[in-house]
Amino acid sequence: MTWASRRAVCRLGLLVAGLLMALVLGPAVASADSSSPFTPASTIATATANLFWVIVAIAGIIFVGVEGVLFYALFAYRQRPGREAAQFHGSTRLEITWTAIPALILLVVFVLTVKTVVANQLPAGDPLEIRAVAHQWWWEFDYPAEGITTANELHVPVGERVVVKLSSVDVIHSFWIPSLVPKLDAVPGQDRTLWFDAHQAGDYAGRCAEFCGVEHTWMLFRVVAQSPDEYAAWIKSQQQPAPAPTGLALQGLQLYQAQTCASCHAIAATSSNGSVGPSLTHVASRWSIGAGVLDNTPDNLSRWLADPQAFKPGSAMPNYHFGPDDVKALTAYLETLK
Ligand code: CUA
Repeated sequence: MTWASRRAVCRLGLLVAGLLMALVLGPAVASADSSSPFTPASTIATATANLFWVIVAIAGIIFVGVEGVLFYALFAYRQRPGREAAQFHGSTRLEITWTAIPALILLVVFVLTVKTVVANQLPAGDPLEIRAVAHQWWWEFDYPAEGITTANELHVPVGERVVVKLSSVDVIHSFWIPSLVPKLDAVPGQDRTLWFDAHQAGDYAGRCAEFCGVEHTWMLFRVVAQSPDEYAAWIKSQQQPAPAPTGLALQGLQLYQAQTCASCHAIAATSSNGSVGPSLTHVASRWSIGAGVLDNTPDNLSRWLADPQAFKPGSAMPNYHFGPDDVKALTAYLETLK
């Protein structure tokens, strides 16, 4: 086998391996996560996915064309008894052709890309504005007009344009909702803006997409796209202050205030207004504990309070070595914060 034909076989092997991997891994990735760039559910994600598939198609046609010509040339012009392999070194026509065609293809890709970028600029109007602040390792979401602060859970009305003002308090993170919006870095000291409009109601997984420290993996969030009525009801419930606790829950509140919990977390209607950790005003209504590390159930909350570092080593939440009674009281209190 000649060197060129070996290279061709090698390339073909790589392509087949790549296709097989895509076939096997693609559905696995999609099913493990409700959110994927291949299931776009917003205007911007759909435009980006369409551009991706157009470029994949162009690249596929080029691959098949180039490999086809290569194999054809290998066999048609090979050395035979009584004939030298054909040579085309120094063919000006050929060299102009294979410079001009890629330049044209790149021009087409360039124009399509610029068109997509321009089409994805924030449309004029008066969209809903949310502030997203990245922390090591959780997301703070503020709704300035509604006076709400929550964590790791972003509620939006379906079909409505949402503008997210993105920033970070420590290192560079990256905000990514695969089905709704491409990645955008969250950079300390910079305010950046992205927007999206969820086309269908449902939950969409979001994540930090830039390595930002040991717990980068557990910097997940969830987008809940709701009908306007459900969204309004959620806003209303989040605006309610915490109810006054009684019994065991009251003991929990006292413990919360006596320990340093109150200086890192915020609970509306108490004196606690720290912002080092997530706001706990409606912590019991959220989907997870520790930005995805545990499902938010009373049992898991107790396990988390007893030893947060066992679940999220390196996070800012220290182990207070609470006894079982203290854990019970704190859990009882936090569970009232629906
Ligand atoms: Cu934040 Cu990775």
